[in-house]
Amino acid sequence: MPSTVLIGAQWGDEGKGKITDLIAGEYDYVVRYQGGNNAGHTVIHGDKKLALHLIPSGVMYENAVPVIGNGVVIDPGVLVKEMAMLEAEGVSCSRLLISCDAHIIMPYHKDLDGASEKRLGKNQIGTTKRGIGPCYQDKMARRGIRVQDLLDEKVFRMKVEAALSQVNPILEKVYGLHTYTVEEIIEEIAPYSSIFRQHMAETTQLLNDALREGKNILFEGAQGTLLDIDHGTYPFVTSSSCCAGGAATGTGVGPTKITKVLGIQKAYVTRVGSGPFPTELRFPEDGGEGEEAAAGELLCSVGHEYGVTTGRKRRCGWFDAVIARYAAEVNGITDIALTKLDVLSEFDTLKVCVAYECDGKRYDYFPMQQSVLYHSKPIYEELPGWKGVDITGCTSFEELPENAQRYIEYIEELTGVPCSIISVAPDRDQTIFRGWSSK
Ligand code: IMP
Repeated sequence: MPSTVLIGAQWGDEGKGKITDLIAGEYDYVVRYQGGNNAGHTVIHGDKKLALHLIPSGVMYENAVPVIGNGVVIDPGVLVKEMAMLEAEGVSCSRLLISCDAHIIMPYHKDLDGASEKRLGKNQIGTTKRGIGPCYQDKMARRGIRVQDLLDEKVFRMKVEAALSQVNPILEKVYGLHTYTVEEIIEEIAPYSSIFRQHMAETTQLLNDALREGKNILFEGAQGTLLDIDHGTYPFVTSSSCCAGGAATGTGVGPTKITKVLGIQKAYVTRVGSGPFPTELRFPEDGGEGEEAAAGELLCSVGHEYGVTTGRKRRCGWFDAVIARYAAEVNGITDIALTKLDVLSEFDTLKVCVAYECDGKRYDYFPMQQSVLYHSKPIYEELPGWKGVDITGCTSFEELPENAQRYIEYIEELTGVPCSIISVAPDRDQTIFRGWSSK
């Protein structure tokens, strides 16, 4: 039966929230498979905007079951707060299911995230400091605490003891931070066991059963391809598998059951945090000047490019077809949702990066060595814009100005993937569907 993975094809913040919100109603299950509350997107509820960080957006649809899969890391305090916020807004969380195998973000994970960033100094990653990395680190080191460990007090105590025996020396000796007693952790985390008990489920079995019964599933990716731990701009990445493959490991649904991969591409590119970004239009405070800085500032202000989770100003740049092609390949993207096309209505001409140049060599593909990416200069094609034409009311491809049509077709040509959804403004109905089907 059909199932779709929705992923960010850039460095996150491509507008996944709007697209998820638009199509989630077509699915029976909406499942998060990686990341934690480092994600953030806004969903429209009546006349209000609600910010979701952890709970899948399927929670907004009464006929969809929202599921937090095994690949997610959960900060219990954030979970409870987000549920309370939704309930207060009249959104029921009673259908929410949480995998017993998901890992829990412990207080020391947040301490370690902050301390590690501080220690890195100017080489810092620019994490959200939500404890995401250290939690995944403990998962891989096989000393993580899982949701199911909260079911049994004895087991929980034993696991916490084992974890602290390794984590406390790191806190104290490496970072000079305060250590935790087992009692402190139990006191802080054990009260959340009742909420987990209410929502815990055998999600792997349940999702496979659902597919057998003809139900369909939307896997809701967080962050983006270039932030993926394996395929991103390591080490300036998040600590999970954001790419489409992560949906299989992060839920226990086999890859042969995934039928579509919807890649969300913003019509330009942004990134938060550190790391290489070939088409970046540097802001004056980052050393940019002249036309370059002005274009970056314009993208940022017109596109409201500030983080939902952190409020940080996002770095902005022109569309990069090298990373778009790379994202199409590593995710197996079948359809593109092109977002924020209206932001480009402010420009006379638009640049699209078609390849990189480094030390006299042309790269049409994503370079193997990160140092090449750092020193790459984008090779641009310039396209005429549609400045001054308001496209926010366009409801079909044909209604778009000819130059906007050409821009979209050029992206399709460069990536080899159809743009089946085009977003021309924030509202749900300000979207052009051009052959998209969840089936
Ligand atoms: P972490 O996920 O907090 O460990 O942060 C690692 C990197 O991923 C940093 O550069 C963050 O800015 C970035 N990051 C994490 N979550 C998001 C997101 O939802 N959108 C964009 N960037 C993100």
